[in-house]
Amino acid sequence: MSAIISVCTINALQQAAANLKNGGLVAFPTETVYGLGVDASNEAAVHRMYQVKNRPVDHPVIVHIAQLDDVAYWTTAIPDYAIALMRDFWPGPMTLLLPRSSNAGDFITGGQDVVGIRIPDHTIAANLLKAFRDLGGKGIAAPSANRYGAVSPTTAAAVATELNIFLAEQDQILDGGPCLVGVESTIIDCTGSNPVILRPGAVTAAMIEASTGIVIAQPTGQIAKVSGSHSQHYSPKAKVRISESATIGEGFIALAEIHTPAGAIRLAAPKTIEEYARELYAALRAADDKKLDSVVIVPPEGEGLAVAIRDRIQRASHG
Ligand code: TXA
Ligand code: MG
Repeated sequence: MSAIISVCTINALQQAAANLKNGGLVAFPTETVYGLGVDASNEAAVHRMYQVKNRPVDHPVIVHIAQLDDVAYWTTAIPDYAIALMRDFWPGPMTLLLPRSSNAGDFITGGQDVVGIRIPDHTIAANLLKAFRDLGGKGIAAPSANRYGAVSPTTAAAVATELNIFLAEQDQILDGGPCLVGVESTIIDCTGSNPVILRPGAVTAAMIEASTGIVIAQPTGQIAKVSGSHSQHYSPKAKVRISESATIGEGFIALAEIHTPAGAIRLAAPKTIEEYARELYAALRAADDKKLDSVVIVPPEGEGLAVAIRDRIQRASHG
């Protein structure tokens, strides 16, 4: 059991930062989804976070940092195109995989030679990271604040519902309202001569090519253990089907312009692609809250953020 902190004053964030420094777990909002934060330099605390998530220990976790100066602490060789990406899209919904320094322990990289780094774009996350840094903290390791394989939470209430029974009394959940992006960050492998997208997100392929002036390469499968790349992930308990037709009692998620099949239960009717991303996970959670057996989803068409939405829907439907 842990406390939801609903008034995230600077004072409350300083206390949360001290909590992290003492090995506590602090779930916090980012612009993408809520993260389950822990001191990225504290092996014991990272282990407890893995237990709370029920996550395999060889699975790497993203290190969130306060500012660009801190990239050098965690990494070694940074290609020029990665610097362009940092300048253009941080703070923002983008994680870069870079060759790790000796400061990045096996317990956060899953034993791989790369480390995942991100500067999130959210006032509460930014102020928490800054307060943590003021206490000498180097980075906050944070996976999405859900049990392994489940849907990422986009509200503090969703974090509490999912994790509260696994959290300790000292742990905290910071409430920053619903996340504005709603799907996880774009993960870009920056260890080769060209950037490679390992998980699509709000920083799109076109944005990456425009920023770097380099063509994106296709994944070769050399970097393993990107959990979002497992075909079954982001799944609710309800069975997810991709279709335009639904039967009585099935959940239904589609753009507002697509009307609800007779007898189906509308779970979301986003008007834009951005709204679709923002509402998708809450709609999948609503299906489980309503104890529906199945959910029918009509994926959005098009490029950009729609690619990330289709990717998550594909995985929610078990590939
Ligand atoms: O938007 C996000 O990225 C959210 C917020 C909280 O920042 N975080 C998130 O974390 O989605 P997580 O752990 O649920 O997904 C991150 C993915 C995982 O699939 C992990 O395997 C991969 O990033 N990853 C992290 N560090 C890595 C590394 N060093 N090498 C390869 N993959 C890595
Ligand atoms: Mg996750």
